[in-house]
Amino acid sequence: MSEQPVVTIDGPAASGKSSTAQMVADALGARHVDSGALYRAITAARLREGGAPEFWTEADVLAAAQRVSLVPHARGFTVCIEGRDAEEELRGQAVTGLVSMVAKISDVRGWVNAQVRATLRHGAVVCDGRDMGTAVFPDAALKVWLVALPEERARRRLLQRLGRPPSVEEIGPEAAALEARDQRDAEQTQPAPDAEWVDGTGISQGEQVARIVALAASRGMPLI
Ligand code: C5P
Repeated sequence: MSEQPVVTIDGPAASGKSSTAQMVADALGARHVDSGALYRAITAARLREGGAPEFWTEADVLAAAQRVSLVPHARGFTVCIEGRDAEEELRGQAVTGLVSMVAKISDVRGWVNAQVRATLRHGAVVCDGRDMGTAVFPDAALKVWLVALPEERARRRLLQRLGRPPSVEEIGPEAAALEARDQRDAEQTQPAPDAEWVDGTGISQGEQVARIVALAASRGMPLI
């Protein structure tokens, strides 16, 4: 099969995948697809129904997925629940704590993968997640495995959340929480054998984006 006009960016939690993927998509004139946001939206849609999470069934989580959709816009796709933009709801602690459990359901993974693959009908895409280069687009023109040290990832995540540089005391527990989520997601978080490794530790986001865009150009993806 020929290469697809797709860049995949996979890696552990909070490695800056989504913001990097959006910037790479902008540089390539492609659309960004955030697969993690789909898993989060399914979790949020199921949370809306109430009931203790330990009693959620696979069938009713899958039913919740049917209320989630991707609506195309110029730079990517808005993740909607019941047709409405749900971005803020996706980032809360309740969703973050439960999403790995939802993402373990194989029918849910199949549903998300089909949604992500379908975005290609709108043109070139830059997809970020855990298994975009392995399970979803094994024929992508470029596969990136984006890593950074846990402390660096925690620092960036806290900077985003608090709007100020975090203290050392704040970074420790956040790094531990990220590593715990990586453990829960380990099964589906693997680099493709032919992925390009990009280490974001100690480089600016702009540099990180420039490296990926240069790799994409070298694989024949047109730049705008
Ligand atoms: O990328 P983000 O941290 O928003 O992803 C939320 C969760 O969705 C991850 O912790 C993981 O459980 C799940 N996920 C996944 N496969 C993907 C993307 C995300 O299992 N491709």
